[in-house]
Amino acid sequence: MIIAVDGPAASGKGTVARALALHFMLPYLDTGLLYRATGLQCLRHGGDPSNEAEAKAATGFSDAMMDDLEIRSEAASRAASVVSAHPAVRQALLERQVDFATQPGGAVLDGRDIGTVIAPHAEAKLFVTASPETRAKRRFAQLVGEGSKVAYDHVLTDILARDERDSSRSAAPLKRADDAALLETDDLNVQQSIAAAIALVGGVSPR
Ligand code: DC
Repeated sequence: MIIAVDGPAASGKGTVARALALHFMLPYLDTGLLYRATGLQCLRHGGDPSNEAEAKAATGFSDAMMDDLEIRSEAASRAASVVSAHPAVRQALLERQVDFATQPGGAVLDGRDIGTVIAPHAEAKLFVTASPETRAKRRFAQLVGEGSKVAYDHVLTDILARDERDSSRSAAPLKRADDAALLETDDLNVQQSIAAAIALVGGVSPR
């Protein structure tokens, strides 16, 4: 079974996807890491993430980059969002994701275009979302917990800018697939979100 989990930044899709992978005993790929590694590699090589050729050259990052702590930084997030708008970057990262999705036994992938582009035939598709304010509050709490002195308004502005970039690009924009189940997590805690996701996927019969 292939499980496709999409949604905007800080919607809880990663938490839900990881829990689904554990529950259904499937391998898991966080595809955002591929874009983050590309963005970070581009910055480290002095490249400009908005330049398509320089961003594409950075898709040759080493696997170790995916474990680099800096990949979670706000700078890498921003660079990821910028490089992900380039068709050449998406194309360069496509095969790796399709191979992961179609491995024997199935897989769970999360991202922005899993249900629409990477695995349009996935048996189960979830679109996990929450309001920008809810997502900003969660991200803010996480950053404060990590000792960061960021302001809430700054986090919200950043989330809104990322939503706008991810949704308005012409190459594989963030979009709910017509056949994806909607999971709104505004009024759900982590355990409730996971339980709802398992119930939604559990109701799907394997193809
Ligand atoms: O899920 P994330 O925040 O780690 O993703 C980082 C950026 O990568 C995000 O701004 C959009 C982009 N991305 C994408 O375009 N397609 C994906 N499948 C996953 C992430």
